[in-house]
Amino acid sequence: MNMRATHLLDAARRHAVAHNANDAAGDTPVHRGMQRGRNIFWHKGQVETNCRENLFGHRPATVWLTGLSGAGKSTLAYELEKYLLLQRRACYVLDGDNLRHHLNCDLGFSADARRENIRRAAEVARLMNDAGLIVITAFISPFVEDRAMARAIVGDARFIEVHVCTALEVCEARDPKGLYAKARAGKIDEFTGVSSPYEVPLQPDLKLDSSALPLAEATRLLFEHLASTVFEVAQ
Ligand code: ADX
Repeated sequence: MNMRATHLLDAARRHAVAHNANDAAGDTPVHRGMQRGRNIFWHKGQVETNCRENLFGHRPATVWLTGLSGAGKSTLAYELEKYLLLQRRACYVLDGDNLRHHLNCDLGFSADARRENIRRAAEVARLMNDAGLIVITAFISPFVEDRAMARAIVGDARFIEVHVCTALEVCEARDPKGLYAKARAGKIDEFTGVSSPYEVPLQPDLKLDSSALPLAEATRLLFEHLASTVFEVAQ
């Protein structure tokens, strides 16, 4: 691992510990340096986390789907969202392509731009979790250190990493947007799996291969994992 990666991982781990210890505070290691000298202050709300948990009937969580383009992340994310809403669970999908239409429309696909993409997405997920929602994200998020940063921003206890591990050959054969063909023809730079790396998660909470599992089955597995971790609320 290079120096930058080691440094970022250390920062992310420190952040994860401190973030959990300062649940409601804005003052976490990742943000602290940025705030110093800027004369801004954290306003603590009057609503405790467990009020929202009791209102919604579940703890908030971020289900972080990572995998290649065409792996089935968005399909699974929106299927799970529908499934959860039918069960009257408050949830929302943050999708990489969709966020790049608006919030992240200024970002490309260099390693730095992807890192910023993931940082912003994780910060939005964190806010939505603070509001009490279950968040499902669908980002390629190809780099281990960026996913560690996302986990650190969201908080370890709320972060569920799911590798949608559909093989490159399958994603490329599907090529739903025609992007693999363009990348192979040299018409798209830094395309994940072709000319930019995808770093496989080392210890995901769950691995789902959309070519081996029917969508309904993958959705059910995800739902059951969530149910066992976030649906029991202490009164
Ligand atoms: S990430 O790598 O920064 O996490 P993100 O999930 O937001 O990526 O966006 C991926 C989507 O952008 C792909 O599904 C695809 O539609 C589109 N895309 C366009 N150019 C690229 C590229 N060079 N590499 C990967 N995806 C790309």
